[in-house]
Amino acid sequence: AVVPVITIDGPTASGKGTIAHRVAQQLGWHTLDSGALYRLTALAVQQQGVDAFDELAVAQVALRLDVGFQGEQVLLSGQDVAALIRQESVGNLASKVAAYAPLRQALLERQRAFRVAPGLVADGRDMGTVVFPDAPLKVFLVADVQARAERRCKQLKEKGFSANLTGLLEDMRARDERDRNRANAPLVAAHDAKTVDSSCLSIDETVKQVLDLWSEAC
Ligand code: C5P
Repeated sequence: AVVPVITIDGPTASGKGTIAHRVAQQLGWHTLDSGALYRLTALAVQQQGVDAFDELAVAQVALRLDVGFQGEQVLLSGQDVAALIRQESVGNLASKVAAYAPLRQALLERQRAFRVAPGLVADGRDMGTVVFPDAPLKVFLVADVQARAERRCKQLKEKGFSANLTGLLEDMRARDERDRNRANAPLVAAHDAKTVDSSCLSIDETVKQVLDLWSEAC
């Protein structure tokens, strides 16, 4: 039987990761944080001193990535880098290299391999459009940029990083702009996606909306 997938795509800090985890918990399914793969690639590029403008070299780094996800841990060559990859510098580089077609191709099969029974909740930018186009439920999660910047600010401070709201707003606008306007797998709602606006919703309310949509879809 085909393993079901719920895709959750949307702009930076729209709450995709949190919602994806909660929905997966409720259903007893696996998760794929596809942004983490782009962030891990960016971190490995930094660490290995690879030229970030060399598209093929960056794709090679992605093909050779030794990654693991264990609970809260994100392992790169056996080292927990969960906190490191959340840094804005890594996110910004990730968003730049994510425009490279060879890199996106290099990560495609790795992402599809997460589709394991009993089901997968996958979050990112192109989960519904490119990676899992046959997903029975596609959610496009949006929130206004101010709400997203405030959330990201809080999140970074909780993790012990310094954060500045104005700087975050600017970074976030720039990143959204790049993600929306790139030629390869731009951030766009799939034609059959359901849009959920979380600006004024709590986490619980947003999770409920997604679970309700899943009940309708299956
Ligand atoms: O979601 P997150 O902020 O962790 O993703 C980091 C960057 O990776 C994004 O800004 C985006 O450019 C890229 N990305 C992507 N496709 C995905 C997930 C993330 O291009 N499916």
